[in-house]
Amino acid sequence: MHSSQQPTGALPASAAAAVESRLVEAVGSAGAELFLLRLQRWWPDLHDGLASVYGTRAEDTAVRLIELAADAYAAREPELKRLDLVRSLEPDWFQQPDMMGYAAYADRFAGDLAGVSERVEYLRELGVTYLHLMPLLRPREGDSDGGYAVADYRDVQPGLGTMRDLRALAHTLRESGISLVLDLVLNHVAREHEWARAARAGDPRYRAYFHTYADRELPDAYECTLPEVFPDFAPGNFSWDEELQAWVWTTFNSFQWDVNWANPDVFVEYADILLFLANVGVEVVRLDAIAFLWKRLGTDCQNQPEVHAITQALHALTRIVCPALLFKAEAIVGPADLVHYLGQGPHYGKVSDLAYHNSLMVQIWSMLASGDARLAARALGTLPPAPSTTAWITYLRGHDDIGWAIDDGDAAAVGLSGHAHRAFLSDYYAGRFPGSAARGLVFQSNPATGDRRISGTSASLAGIEAGDERGVARVLLGHALTFGWGGIPVIWSGDELAMPNDPDWAAEPGHGGDNRWTHRPRLSEADLERRTDPTTVAGQLFGGLRALIQARARVPHLDASVSSEIAPLADPGILPVLRRHPLGALLGLYNVTDSWRPFPWWRLDELAITDPWDALSNTGVKAGEDGNVWLAPYQAMWIV
Ligand code: GLC
Repeated sequence: MHSSQQPTGALPASAAAAVESRLVEAVGSAGAELFLLRLQRWWPDLHDGLASVYGTRAEDTAVRLIELAADAYAAREPELKRLDLVRSLEPDWFQQPDMMGYAAYADRFAGDLAGVSERVEYLRELGVTYLHLMPLLRPREGDSDGGYAVADYRDVQPGLGTMRDLRALAHTLRESGISLVLDLVLNHVAREHEWARAARAGDPRYRAYFHTYADRELPDAYECTLPEVFPDFAPGNFSWDEELQAWVWTTFNSFQWDVNWANPDVFVEYADILLFLANVGVEVVRLDAIAFLWKRLGTDCQNQPEVHAITQALHALTRIVCPALLFKAEAIVGPADLVHYLGQGPHYGKVSDLAYHNSLMVQIWSMLASGDARLAARALGTLPPAPSTTAWITYLRGHDDIGWAIDDGDAAAVGLSGHAHRAFLSDYYAGRFPGSAARGLVFQSNPATGDRRISGTSASLAGIEAGDERGVARVLLGHALTFGWGGIPVIWSGDELAMPNDPDWAAEPGHGGDNRWTHRPRLSEADLERRTDPTTVAGQLFGGLRALIQARARVPHLDASVSSEIAPLADPGILPVLRRHPLGALLGLYNVTDSWRPFPWWRLDELAITDPWDALSNTGVKAGEDGNVWLAPYQAMWIV
């Protein structure tokens, strides 16, 4: 942290006065008063966040931000201002168990933005209330890392529609009870973005937006402790640029230039973009690759404390202008770093509202491969609870590969070698382990670390593609766990229809080396139609998922304000997940094996669950003659 960190101060009268008359003129005195009250309320978070990162430049940065904020507030449409009020009256709206997410590429899901509007009915049929459309702001031409190399944050990808269409879609979704979620790629821009173009043309102001180095001295020093994200097709973390005549920091591909968040001008630029997107009607921003924002020599340049201070300041700003907006952290990091994105210590409750539960996802696939819940119990059981005002994003699959984020200490605690278990999981999901019906592809094999990540749809990983009859039950068990954990479960487009890997993923221009495209299928009407045919795996999975979604919405114990604990294991094949809700306990039981497994009845007595009821199947729970509750292969129960 910066040495000149300043203590929290009251809002300086001059800062408010600077915008007050302008606001009264633009939005009337009541509107101005609301803004100023919010400014007062969130000023300490804004100020402290900026001060701990920008030191002496924090004050003038804050003044610039307040002016931006006032303009964005004045420009915010009445419909969105109303939403701000509604959300402020119901701040736990996103924690409720009827929240249900879906994530898709607009073109692959429905052709274009107009097509997405036409598929709202389909989403509603599934129970969706949250729609993450993958990056759709104008990317660079050619390979754009699936849209994650943005050339213009204020324009829509040609072929999908226009900014007007995006506003219209946000409105249509909102009317149907669906919140629009969009990416804000804030670690890097495309080499073709106007800032990078200006830097390449020699403008020093914009050159200072990036990390550039005339020679290899510093890049080499950083590389000593930096991991590689794409060792296969983008080795190293720096790229030589002829026009810059310098090395530029590129964590991901050479065409994705990391921006320099130590420069307060960069902060102001992103604040402006953020408020712009909020005013388009985006309700949740996915803060892409947020772990990488801050660079520090001698570290892996991830999860640095400044990342959280920056998030706090950005969120304070949106709470002033557009409090309906939520932040979602995309930090695919190890278990020990994960909870910090929802706020720990000084940032408790002040950073992101949502964060991906990468650890849960990894542990689900690990349990399905090993048929053993002990490692998951240890890893999930030792995670600190998330703040009660936040929610996890739980998921089985997404658009990315799966990296085996298994902690060596957790593995050792249950008698495993972390390295050997990660190698087993890679072998298992690549279908190279005896008895495995998985059909994943190895992504970014890294001989230096032994890492082999895995691509593939849930259907292909769970054995459905290979014809394993247990596949549907496995996928549904995985979803039951993500649905029963608390938070917003998100289904990756195509998974609800058991779509297999796309064998032709490499055929599309620019996709060649990146096999993550194998699990980003295009959905046709014919694919969608199979959902009503129970003789197809698509029909079975879709029906099973709908039943899960409907059951979940009826269980108040699944509210995200209550966190999940791991109860002591009775059988290594069953993961017991306990939620102590004021209404009483909910015990989730998940049989991760392909055989019948017992759970002792007395354990229910111990939790004061008398007259147990399985909220998932909507039936009473009975003990067998041996005093156990028996779970069928891959069965889940939510006992209340
Ligand atoms: C995130 C995205 C991933 C992308 C990377 C770089 O991790 O999920 O798809 O490659 O950021 O933007």
